[in-house]
Amino acid sequence: MVAVGIVGIGAYVPPKIMTNEDWAKVVDTSDEWITQKTGIKERRISEKDVCTSDLAVFACKKAMDDAQIRPEDVDMIILATSSPDVPLSSTAGIIQHKLGCINASAFDINAVCSGWIHALEIGSKFAADDNYENILVVGAETYSRIVNWSDRSTCVLFGDGAGAAVLQKVEEGRGILGTWLHSDGKGSDVIEIPAGGIRKPISSDNFNEGEQYFHMDGRAVWDFAIEAMPQAVRNVLKRVHRDLKDVDMIIPHQANLNIIKAGMNALNLPIEKTFINLQKYGNTAAASVPIALYEAVEEGKIKSGDLIITVAFGGGLSWGANAIIW
Ligand code: ACO
Repeated sequence: MVAVGIVGIGAYVPPKIMTNEDWAKVVDTSDEWITQKTGIKERRISEKDVCTSDLAVFACKKAMDDAQIRPEDVDMIILATSSPDVPLSSTAGIIQHKLGCINASAFDINAVCSGWIHALEIGSKFAADDNYENILVVGAETYSRIVNWSDRSTCVLFGDGAGAAVLQKVEEGRGILGTWLHSDGKGSDVIEIPAGGIRKPISSDNFNEGEQYFHMDGRAVWDFAIEAMPQAVRNVLKRVHRDLKDVDMIIPHQANLNIIKAGMNALNLPIEKTFINLQKYGNTAAASVPIALYEAVEEGKIKSGDLIITVAFGGGLSWGANAIIW
């Protein structure tokens, strides 16, 4: 097996901060409710002329600088997003053009919040192939534009941002050891945008009902997530023949502090073994894990040789984890 690892990483969040108090001026909510239920204190909101691809481009440039590669060195761009610039064509293509990655193929994948976990696995398979050298794996989202700003049960939970990694072949024994992925399509309507696709095109009726926006059964996601997170961690460790006690750091999807606590409790691991930044950014869906990974590296929380587990769950329903030797 050819070893593949992350050789460059970057992240970007838009500068505009929206605090819980700011949301309390828009919907019937409070800093106390949001903090107690989720741990989120603020999130970033893109300006109206900024798209998902713009956030991604900033993150990709940092990752490419970190990996010391030029745009023309990139062979493939895989974007995980559920808030693309347009429904068609791919946002990855737009990113490719903006970056000038003239030698790359580019495509989107959508596994909602676990998208980057999936994209990393796809990218690692290509990067192991002789025909590919540099793969850009990006998670980027602009949820501020797909949530309903009058639905307090969802709008306060999300934020905008992007994270990116460059994958290359690395020395044996390092890099991405393995991945475990799973889906349960029975729950595909637990998290959804009901209208705007082929099944239910936008009409004036469903538009007035707000069906063009993100919908979520929060309780159902909670029940799913507190099982999914520990299951994915356990299963990826089994797959790579490692033990929970070998894990140096878990980078979880930054949806809700209480879910992370419940997951770590179920794994019988201390919360200190996770990196958490959801208080600053809320849930940035497919961008949340790479942004957290980037910040953990920047803050010196991850050392060379550490065993890192990246884990996420979300719409689909889908969930999974990657085991990485840093
Ligand atoms: N402010 C104040 N009150 C609120 C708010 C708000 N923002 N939102 C809901 N409430 C109210 C509800 O109306 C309800 O009031 P009622 O009792 O009078 O009916 C009360 O708070 C409790 O609501 P619940 O929905 O039962 O609250 P719960 O304890 O389930 O917490 C939460 C809600 C935080 C969303 C939780 O269910 C959760 O975290 N679920 C998981 C969500 C998640 O992690 N999603 C990630 C995947 S998303 C993706 O893949 C893109």
